[in-house]
Amino acid sequence: MKQLEERILRDGRALNADVLLVDSFLNNQVDAPLMAAVGKALAGAAKELGITRVVTIESSGIAPAVMTAMALDVPLVILKKSTSRILKDDVLQTEVFSFTKNAAYQLTLKKRFVLPGDRVLLVDDFLARGEAAQGASKLIKQAGASVAAIGIVIEKAFQPGRAVLMQKGYRVISLARVAKMGEDCIEFAEADA
Ligand code: G4P
Repeated sequence: MKQLEERILRDGRALNADVLLVDSFLNNQVDAPLMAAVGKALAGAAKELGITRVVTIESSGIAPAVMTAMALDVPLVILKKSTSRILKDDVLQTEVFSFTKNAAYQLTLKKRFVLPGDRVLLVDDFLARGEAAQGASKLIKQAGASVAAIGIVIEKAFQPGRAVLMQKGYRVISLARVAKMGEDCIEFAEADA
């Protein structure tokens, strides 16, 4: 997605060789028109897949995912990273370890919002090692639904997430694929849409 790559080049900053700061349009401040374009691009790439639901992980996945759900005219379901003590019933949970944040969390799906037979487009802001996407996919399958594709706003193509997910049979749709980054350079690999 050209518009997204241009925005990353303009406003993104490599914190180091591994972490890309995109706080001004994705993580802290959200550029809503850009997210609408992201949603349209993901929806367009997934339009033949019979998607019945978009699923994302709080919190930075929500902005691109809500726009994708709107473009596909399907509900958006949000996976939480912890569960409230009063909401123990009707949930599916799995532990996810984040290497970027060096912390584990309980990914939580409220079962009644993903139905058996649903065809899910899983949307997230970043793909690094694919741990979050694998955890989310596991919960979606436990609910009896299938993961038709995984839509990613920014893939760090120098990390193994994409290969891990594809090896497990998932289709990955990344709008920007960062191949390499350093203090004054960000290079892209060919994106999927
Ligand atoms: P993985 O699931 O692909 O293995 O990724 P990982 O656990 O390493 O990433 C965990 C968190 O770090 C996610 O945010 C992800 O969006 C974020 N992240 C990973 N790499 C980068 C990066 O290069 N830049 C930025 N800005 N974020 C990155 P999260 O914990 O879910 O936080 P949030 O969604 O609440 O913001």
